[in-house]
Amino acid sequence: MRIILLGPPGAGKGTQAKMLKERFGIPQISTGDILRKAAQDNTKLGRQAKTLMDAGKLVQDDTVIGVIRERIAQEDCRNGFVLDGFPRTIVQAEKLVDTLKDMDLSIDAVVDFVVDSQVLINRLTGRRTCSDCGAMYHETSRPPRIRNVCDVCGASLYQREDDKEETIKKRLEVYQNETAPLKEFYRKQGNLKTTQGCGSVEEIFSRVCSMVT
Ligand code: AP5
Repeated sequence: MRIILLGPPGAGKGTQAKMLKERFGIPQISTGDILRKAAQDNTKLGRQAKTLMDAGKLVQDDTVIGVIRERIAQEDCRNGFVLDGFPRTIVQAEKLVDTLKDMDLSIDAVVDFVVDSQVLINRLTGRRTCSDCGAMYHETSRPPRIRNVCDVCGASLYQREDDKEETIKKRLEVYQNETAPLKEFYRKQGNLKTTQGCGSVEEIFSRVCSMVT
């Protein structure tokens, strides 16, 4: 099963991707997570990406396409994967088609989440992430039992650098200009499925499961 999750920043792609990973035993491939890890490890890729990410801009197509090509060729992707945050431009989507074609593969479903922009801003400004295991919380809608401490592993929580309100606005603008056109791209390919990204995480997950199976 090969799935793409589309949607603006804060639409819930990461949340749903983690649940799909558990349910179907396929890896979640988040370009954002891969780039943040590279930045944390202070690699050349990470240093280049960090400046753009912190400013709410997209990392160059060639860079992320290279990252994805390498990742989907790995053994754990043999039975499928969930792409979370890739593709984000038409060029990336076209290169993905070519890459999968070379491997005799294709995408089974593209799920697009629709969420009102004020809801997105509230979700992102309140998001907190575990610095160790990556578990995700929200200050009001999904608070940890102890403030700033991960329920799962006990490590401290942090706020992403790009989750400041001004940067969020830039990310939403970039999404409209660069990523929203992908809906038409996948509609033409015949595999676009659209769902409301509001409601409980579990309700949304149930809708997503019925769309991808
Ligand atoms: P990336 O990490 O991909 O960020 P994003 O797409 O902006 O998406 P987010 O992670 O912010 O949101 P999400 O939709 O995953 O929502 P989440 O589940 O976390 O990219 C970051 C940067 O990396 C980019 O700006 C760019 O610079 C670079 N980059 C990455 N990929 C790239 C690419 N392909 N090309 C070029 N550059 C790239 O949920 C958000 C919050 O809402 C959480 O607190 C969560 O708990 C809460 N929440 C989720 N669902 C619900 C619900 N149903 N109800 C209430 N709260 C909810």
